[in-house]
Amino acid sequence: MQQAIAILDSGVGGLTVVKEVMRQLPQEKIIYFGDTARTPYGPRPSEDVVSFTRQIVDYLIQFSPKMIVIACNTATAVALEDIRSRVNIPVVGVIHPGARAAIKATKTGIVGVIGTDGTIRSGAYEHALKQIAPQLQVVSRACPDFVPLVEKGQFRTSHTYKVVERALYDLKDNAMDCLILGCTHYPFLTETISEVMGPEVALISSADETAREISTILYQSNQLARSDETPIHQFFCSGEPGMFRKIAQDWLGDHILLQPVVWQSP
Ligand code: SIN
Repeated sequence: MQQAIAILDSGVGGLTVVKEVMRQLPQEKIIYFGDTARTPYGPRPSEDVVSFTRQIVDYLIQFSPKMIVIACNTATAVALEDIRSRVNIPVVGVIHPGARAAIKATKTGIVGVIGTDGTIRSGAYEHALKQIAPQLQVVSRACPDFVPLVEKGQFRTSHTYKVVERALYDLKDNAMDCLILGCTHYPFLTETISEVMGPEVALISSADETAREISTILYQSNQLARSDETPIHQFFCSGEPGMFRKIAQDWLGDHILLQPVVWQSP
C-alpha cells in the first residue's frame, strides 16, 4: 500500500498546497484534512490552535503517512515545533518556504506580509525572513476578514473587492515589490488582491516552495512514490461537506473522495 503525504489545514486553504503537490509530485498519494467545523484558526488563542493541530495529527497518524504538512500558517506559527516533537516522521510547515520565495523575488528589499491575527501576532514571518536576510524591511498586516470569505467561496464578488481594498489600500504607499500571502486561504483571492495592489507588487504564495521542500525531503530519504503507482487521494473535513466539496472540485478540477468527520472535543 502506498504511504501518503498527510496535509492539514483549518479549512480549504491547504488545498492551494495540495494543488501544487499534485502538480509537482503527481505520483504521490495525498490525505487531506480541513477542519472546517472550527475554521478560522486565526483569531483563536494559540493553545486552542496547538490542541486542534494535535488532534488532527492524531487522526491522520492512523493512516501511517510518510510525512505531515501543516498547510496552515496560523498552525505552523504556533504548533510546528510541538508536532515535530510528537511524531517520528518529517513535519513540514509553510512559513519558511514562503519566506524563502519572497527573498528570491524582492528587488527593493521591502517585503509585505499579510496573514491572520494569529500569524501576524506570532512574528513568525518576520523572524523567518530576517533570519536569512536581516537587511530586509518587513511590513506586516493582519487581514482577519479574508478567511471567512474564502470558506464561503466568495473569491470575486464586489463585497470581497471592498473588503480586500479596505484592508490593503495603504500598503501600496511604500516601495514594497512583493507581498507574501501568509495564509494558505489567500491564494483563492489572488486576482482580487492583485487588482488592489497593482501589477508592480508580486504576490508570493508558499505553496510552490512548500511542494519543492516536500519533494527534496522525500528524495533525500528515498521515499518518493514509484512512478507506476496511481494515487487515490482522500479528503476529510470536520464540518458540513457541501461547500468544501464544491471548492475542492473547482480548485483541483478532480473527483474528490470526501468523508466528513465528526469531532469529539479534544
Ligand atoms: C485560519 O484558519 O485562520 C487561516 C489559516 C492560515 O493561517 O493559513
